[in-house]
Amino acid sequence: PAAADSLPPAVPDWTRYLGAGVDAHPYGMPSEHEAKVVRRSVEWLTATRESSVNFTPLYALDGFVTPNGLCFERHHGGLAEVDPAEHRLMIHGLVDRPLLFTVEDLKRFPQENRFYFLECAANSGMEWHGAQLNGVQYTHGMVHCVQYTGVSLRTLLKEVGLKDKAAWVLAEGADAAAMTRSIPLEKALDDCLVAYSMNGERLRPEQGYPIRLVVPGWEGNTWVKWLRRLELGDQPWYQREETSKYTDLLPNGKARMFTWVMDAKSVITSPAPELPMQQEGPVVIKGLAWSGHGAIKRVDVTVDGGINWQTAQLHGPVLPKCLTRFTFDWVWDGKPALLQSRCIDETGYVQPTMAALQEKRGVNSIYHNNSIQTWQINENGSVENVRLG
Ligand code: MTE
Ligand code: CO
Repeated sequence: PAAADSLPPAVPDWTRYLGAGVDAHPYGMPSEHEAKVVRRSVEWLTATRESSVNFTPLYALDGFVTPNGLCFERHHGGLAEVDPAEHRLMIHGLVDRPLLFTVEDLKRFPQENRFYFLECAANSGMEWHGAQLNGVQYTHGMVHCVQYTGVSLRTLLKEVGLKDKAAWVLAEGADAAAMTRSIPLEKALDDCLVAYSMNGERLRPEQGYPIRLVVPGWEGNTWVKWLRRLELGDQPWYQREETSKYTDLLPNGKARMFTWVMDAKSVITSPAPELPMQQEGPVVIKGLAWSGHGAIKRVDVTVDGGINWQTAQLHGPVLPKCLTRFTFDWVWDGKPALLQSRCIDETGYVQPTMAALQEKRGVNSIYHNNSIQTWQINENGSVENVRLG
């Protein structure tokens, strides 16, 4: 409860005195009262720097753009601190003119500015066997959405000239993991970017400063950070990240490989375990939806565990391969409820239940869980992660 001498009609302290001048905060930070809104890790998931991850606080965000300082981080060899003056992008292999580019060279090519979501293939991976992590930050927080500025990969490949046999691109990072992924040339020539900025400012070190690959709609692992090398070849390289990792083991013992596109998915971000119900009456249910295949067409919300569905309101711009904000105005009667969202993308694909997903994929998967999430609202207003089927 606020102190009575701060509330109208009294005059609060901060109105009586001059505040700090403009030089107090050359780079602005959020209010100290929002200090709990930060990326967080799960201790047992991030034991070592060989494999670390933290999560975007989705429950606290509005709109569809993720602030730079809140974009989740996933590092396979820790954060590389790269001096841009010492950094080059090499493009070689099946090309006419192998070339080295400085970051400044890249900025002289025609510029692209585009919004995209990035989702780690392991997002919601802990939820395959049942409800596990009690917070939307942890169940769905390996996703972010920012505006990238950079040069189209197609432009750079034209600059080096492609040999007839070129069919794949190997992307390699400059971090301790030297992360490498094979990208088919068709995708490389379609909508990929070599980005140097996010949300208007230079990339953050943790997002790959000074340059990263942007692979719209595809699993986050292909978005190589601290990009240093692109090699053109005639077949994939079968790197660790596309054989041992980022494959999906099916019930018949075979594994799906090169499962690049992130299928349509949505989640209610508030209420959530982190944001319990405060009181009966009007409440805005908020959430996010996205699809690696294109734009979101519709989101439905249920408050009775899927018996009745109603259409949520989408808040534009609704962009392809981008987070889309939705809201649903609800009146809570103080009784237990089961909240879910279900999205449909422009291809007509409908977000599945976990039961439907497991029918196809079995129960051995870690990656590519895009199933419907359930939040159980209890009588006392607390919100819990539960599995309905
Ligand atoms: N690139 C390099 N060089 N090293 C990495 O560890 N992690 C990948 C990808 N690119 C990684 C990388 C994974 S698994 C994901 S999900 C995304 O980067 C995460 O991007 P972010 O840290 O900007 O959220
Ligand atoms: Co990942």
